[in-house]
Amino acid sequence: MFVIEEAHDADAEVVEAIGSLLPLLSRSAPAPTPEEVGEMVESPATILLIARDGPGGPIVGTLTLVVFRIPSGVRALIEDVIVAEATRGRGCGDQLTQAALEAARRAGARTVDLTSRPSREAANRLYQRLGFERRDTNVYRYDL
Ligand SMILES: CC(C)(COP(=O)(O)OP(=O)(O)OC[C@H]1O[C@@H](n2cnc3c(N)ncnc32)[C@H](O)[C@@H]1OP(=O)(O)O)[C@@H](O)C(=O)NCCC(=O)NCCS
Repeated sequence: MFVIEEAHDADAEVVEAIGSLLPLLSRSAPAPTPEEVGEMVESPATILLIARDGPGGPIVGTLTLVVFRIPSGVRALIEDVIVAEATRGRGCGDQLTQAALEAARRAGARTVDLTSRPSREAANRLYQRLGFERRDTNVYRYDL
């Protein structure tokens, strides 16, 4: 079983873990600095979850939940779900996502959205198995 915790401090362990997990998701995103991780843990809009392999064990996964109020209600997004390669297939991504859904529910969110490229087969299977439904919408991005 993995232990899912909300990171409250941008200590060296958390900063290093995020820095080593991030390249497994994005080749272009630079690792966040300690100040940037501090911004995430202090912001009421972001909940930075970490997964430990057993109580007090090493950090092997992360997920960030974003919660915000807009005119149509409180909404939430799941972003940057990453599990260490050697840990995959043992339910860590599942536990992280379920913990995020609980946190979103506690925060009063009406919905939880996420996007995942079709080529990310493991991720797409995981989200559908947990009950996420594909929406008929166009996803746009403006690159700054
Ligand atoms: C997506 C990801 C977070 C899933 O993490 P995980 O801890 O392996 O998740 P789970 O163990 O809960 O299982 C997810 C599914 O992937 C399968 N899987 C993925 N990698 C596997 C591996 N190396 N060995 C065995 N099964 C694997 C699992 O069997 C499971 O499939 P199922 O739902 O049909 O049973 C992880 O693969 C990852 O970090 N991928 C790279 C980053 C990424 O794509 N993130 C998602 C962005 S949207």
